[in-house]
Amino acid sequence: MRVLGIESSCDETAVALVEDSPTGEVRLLCSIVSTQIPLHRQYGGVIPELASRNHSGRLPYLLREALESSSCTIAQVDAFAATGGPGLVAALLVGHTAAKAMALAAGKPFISVNHLEGHLLSPFLQGRRSRAAADAPEPHVALVVSGGHSLLLHVRGLGQYELMGRSQDDAAGEAYDKVAKMMDLPYPGGPEIDKLAERGDASRFDLPRPMLHEPNFDFSFSGLKTAALYLLPKLTPTGDPHELDEQTLCDLCASVRAAITEVLVRKARRALRHTGLRLLAVSGGVSCNSALRRELAAMCANEGAELLLPSAELTTDNAAMIAYAGLLHARVGEHSELTTPVDPNPTLAGYTVRQ
Ligand code: KG4
Ligand code: ZN
Repeated sequence: MRVLGIESSCDETAVALVEDSPTGEVRLLCSIVSTQIPLHRQYGGVIPELASRNHSGRLPYLLREALESSSCTIAQVDAFAATGGPGLVAALLVGHTAAKAMALAAGKPFISVNHLEGHLLSPFLQGRRSRAAADAPEPHVALVVSGGHSLLLHVRGLGQYELMGRSQDDAAGEAYDKVAKMMDLPYPGGPEIDKLAERGDASRFDLPRPMLHEPNFDFSFSGLKTAALYLLPKLTPTGDPHELDEQTLCDLCASVRAAITEVLVRKARRALRHTGLRLLAVSGGVSCNSALRRELAAMCANEGAELLLPSAELTTDNAAMIAYAGLLHARVGEHSELTTPVDPNPTLAGYTVRQ
């Protein structure tokens, strides 16, 4: 089976093709991401109408390129999947409607995919194929850390997701982005902080780690933003972040990254211990973070657990994860009606995921 996936929920226009073999192994035929980040950067965040107009302009080219580079015709695609939410309505509509139109024209099924389910499944697309192929996803603890969400889930199988914990306020990615904005670093802030943090001393500033010791699986990151807000003016004579010396900036970034990382790693460890599961799959844009990847690897090694991380290209928004989620659902006969609307705030594991 071959599935074409489209992602257009926010500021990346993306198309991918996946194919499975009789043994259930899934091959990524192509994954193209056209980012609009430079376009939105000048505004310090995503402008919805600009995003949807650009999705609409870019998508036809990406579709053609994806099919041509995979030597595949539309007639050879068995199902068409697209992100149905969470996301910006006008942006979602572009990819969702395009996938519906292709499914209708080709007389093939359409599958509307929850973007967060795409992230959640993404670690299974590559790596450890032979074991996970036929019945992916196998039972595991999932840590989904994106720009809008920080979730810990107990995954029993496809579509069987139990929410264990989530952020009570800002998501991890959002915390990175907001703190970066205070320092006037370019959008999106997560990768910028990560880069600068590599040259910093994480012990220089003692930033809060809310809920770290609370006996639950929840997170809270808004206090970090407030702490940074109060700290910044103390570090320069005028409070202007541009006056921060290079080392202080790097130390601050390292301290912010250490605070976010410690909470995420501890709560993931708690979830592993609580469930007795020995597999942790981590996904979403923040799973690209180098300190998080290192600390999770060390924690999992200590716990005797296996860690599954998507490759760097599959951590931030992409269509490969949407095509893959579509394929897993199509494999068990789960399709969507062509009348399925986009949903900016769908539910996942009984929890309403707001964009
Ligand atoms: O999953 P994603 O691409 O989009 C959403 O579905 O939200 O995640 C984007 C988020 C942004 O907040 C971005 O700052 C963060 O992921 N991010 C990172 C890194 N790369 C991306 N955060 C920390 N370290 C990184 N290396
Ligand atoms: Zn995402």
